[in-house]
Formats: sequence, structure tokens, C-alpha cells
Amino acid sequence: MTKRPEHCLTIPFTNNNGLLEVNGHSLNAVIAQVGQTPFYAYDKSIMTTQVETFRQYFPEISLHYAMKANPMPDVVNYMSTLVDGLDIASGGEMKVALASSTTADEISFAGPGKSRTELAQAIEAGITLNIESEFELEQIVSIAQQGSREPRVAIRVNPDFELKASGMKMAGGPKPFGIDAERVPALLKSMKNLPVHFRGFHIFSGSQNLKPEALIEAHQKTFELALALSKYAPSPVELLNIGGGFGIPYFPGESELDLRPVADNMNKLLPDVKKQLPNAEIVIELGRFLVGPAGVYICEVTDIKESRGKTYVIANGGLHHHLAASGNFGQIIRKNYPVAIANKMDSQEKQEVSIVGPLCTPLDILADNMLLPNIQRGDLVAVFQSGAYGFSASPHGFLSQPMVKEVLV
Ligand SMILES: Cc1ncc(COP(=O)(O)O)c(C=O)c1O
Repeated sequence: MTKRPEHCLTIPFTNNNGLLEVNGHSLNAVIAQVGQTPFYAYDKSIMTTQVETFRQYFPEISLHYAMKANPMPDVVNYMSTLVDGLDIASGGEMKVALASSTTADEISFAGPGKSRTELAQAIEAGITLNIESEFELEQIVSIAQQGSREPRVAIRVNPDFELKASGMKMAGGPKPFGIDAERVPALLKSMKNLPVHFRGFHIFSGSQNLKPEALIEAHQKTFELALALSKYAPSPVELLNIGGGFGIPYFPGESELDLRPVADNMNKLLPDVKKQLPNAEIVIELGRFLVGPAGVYICEVTDIKESRGKTYVIANGGLHHHLAASGNFGQIIRKNYPVAIANKMDSQEKQEVSIVGPLCTPLDILADNMLLPNIQRGDLVAVFQSGAYGFSASPHGFLSQPMVKEVLV
């Protein structure tokens, strides 16, 4: 048996006699409620804990939920009761956000290439638009000139630095997101006489970061940049969204982000920022940190095959439902998500197997050469850390397999 690195993260789900529980409900009860496998289950209590953890470390900062991580309406409705605002990225997300308990003045809309219809709807609703280009501002002004509500706008800045060691770098250098920092002063000056309500800045530098020192450096540079740009602002800055980027561990060798040093640094920086921008609400927007650990993807073993010395466990779910766990969503070298057998959570026996899905492609892998309990047909495969970029980031139409369901528990 090959020696493989194992996952060392603590899974926040409990089990009863080896059967997984979701928010205190046995998995069998959840399956009965959903009526099928495969499905995603999202545990409210874990979302609540994630929000509480953030609040404990960052009591002076407003928390927005970045809906793109998981736009399921039930999840968004639940999150909206816990957080201070929502960040949306499309007209579709706007509809869900506006139907939640969050009011439009606590919703912000970021993303390049917003359509004129999306801009007009957001303006009408009173949502803050994070402007991604000079042309977008022109569009907004032309909508305003046709007699709409006064648009509420912030400038999304493409900073001149990146969030180092991020799973996804979204700033620094040439990027399609935001307006290059060096062009922002001129844009701000041009806004003086425009029919828009300038609110502030959105500076998002990266995602999926587990390194406190990288976040600390980014926070420092973000505040420096915001303070420098604010000198050109047409009116006092009332909103400073400093992005997010808090990561969660997925793979062997990764561990939880240590928030203590990030919070200590924030406490050092905040007094000066508040002094210089006394009217500004400071916001962090997070997606995966809040909902990622709360989600588990469940599918069922339908067949077990041996091929030239290797054991393949075939499941009724895979890449088409959970692209990220298959390793095809931004991974360069494929690594296993934390996978377990949900009805054998306390089994000590281990065998090396690969779990694959029903698609006719070698990319359809849920677990590659993992040590797992002895598996039989009918056993339930659980893929943890699946609450973010799972369902919504997957190619559901691929090979016309049955649809996966979602449930909030
Ligand atoms: C503008 C913006 N905000 C928030 C997020 C959410 O990031 P995460 O889910 O890693 O917290 C992203 C992710 O790409 C983003 O682009």
C-alpha cells in the first residue's frame, strides 16, 4: 500500500454510531427528506459558528456574505439573518438577495460586464454598484440621466499589489476586475459633477488564503491605498470594502486559517483608518469561509470493480455535481477533498480505493487512492468542505445525468 498524506482537518459534522449527522439529524432522516441521493446538505449550525468566529475576532468590521459561494435561496435567506450585507455578482443573484431579509442598501454588486438591464435594476433597487470600468460608469450616468433613482456607486479598485499565496489571485498586475489604482484619481475627480452618489471603494485582492502573514500584508496595503485614493474622493468615503480571501483547508497538509494574528493586525490598523475616514463603514466580504465547511455532498456506491490490482468504487455522483472535488476547478495538481464513508464514520479498517463517478471520462474522480473503510454497494460517500463553489460551480448538464438536489438542515 502506498503511503499517502492524509487530511488532518477537524470535520465539524458529528456522527451517531458511525452514521453522519447534519445539524443533529441522522443522515438517513435527511435522505428521507430529500428523497434521493446524490444531494448537498448545508448545516445551519456550522454557518452560524463560522459567522460567530468572524464576529469574535473582528467585532468592529461589518460582514457581508459573497453569494457566489453558494447562491441557494434557502442558504442566502439564512445567511442574511446572520450577516450585515450581501455581495452579489449577477442579476440572478440580485433577485435572490432582494427576496431575502437584507435591505438593498446593504447589498453591493461587483463583477465585470454588468448588462445595462442589471445596472438599471440595481439602481432602481438602491443597491451599491461596484464600478468595474470607466464605461460602466458612463452607462450608470446615462441610466441616471433618464430619470432613475440616484445611483449609489463605489469604485472597485484593481490594486497595485496582490494577495500573496492565494488559491485565486484577483488583483495586482493586469486584471479584468476593477479599475487600475493609478487611473482611479482621475476618475474620482471626474465624478464631482456626475449625478451619482459616491460611496467609497471596493478593493478585493484574492481568495482562498490560509496564510495570516499574506492577509496581514494585504490589509495593510489595502488601507494605505484606500487612504491615498480618498484624497481625491468627490465626497466623504462612507464605505470601504476591503475584500476577503479567508480560506478554508481542503487538502492533505492544509490546516485552518489562524485568525488571531490577522485580527491583532486589524486592531492595530483600525484606529488610524477610522480617524482619517470617520464616516466609513469597513466591510469584509466572505463566501467560502462562511459556508464552505457547512456543506457535505452525499452520493451512493453503485458498483465496486477491480482493474489490474486497483479498486474502483463507482458512485452515483461525481464531477457533474461537484466539479471542485473532482479536481477540475482551478487545481493544477489534483488533490483529494476530505472524503469519508458516511455510514462508517467510526470504522478503523482501511483499504486503498479510488471513488469515481458514472461519467465516461477519466476526470470523474471523487477520491484518488484514498484510505477508506471497507466499502460495499449502497454505502454513502460524503465529500466535506462542499458548501462553497460546489453545486453552483458544476456542469450539471454534462452527460445528462440525473440532477443533484440541495437541502438546508
Ligand atoms: C469580488 C469577490 N468577492 C468575494 C468573493 C468570494 O471569495 P471567497 O468565497 O473565497 O470568500 C470573490 C471570489 O471570487 C470575489 O470575486
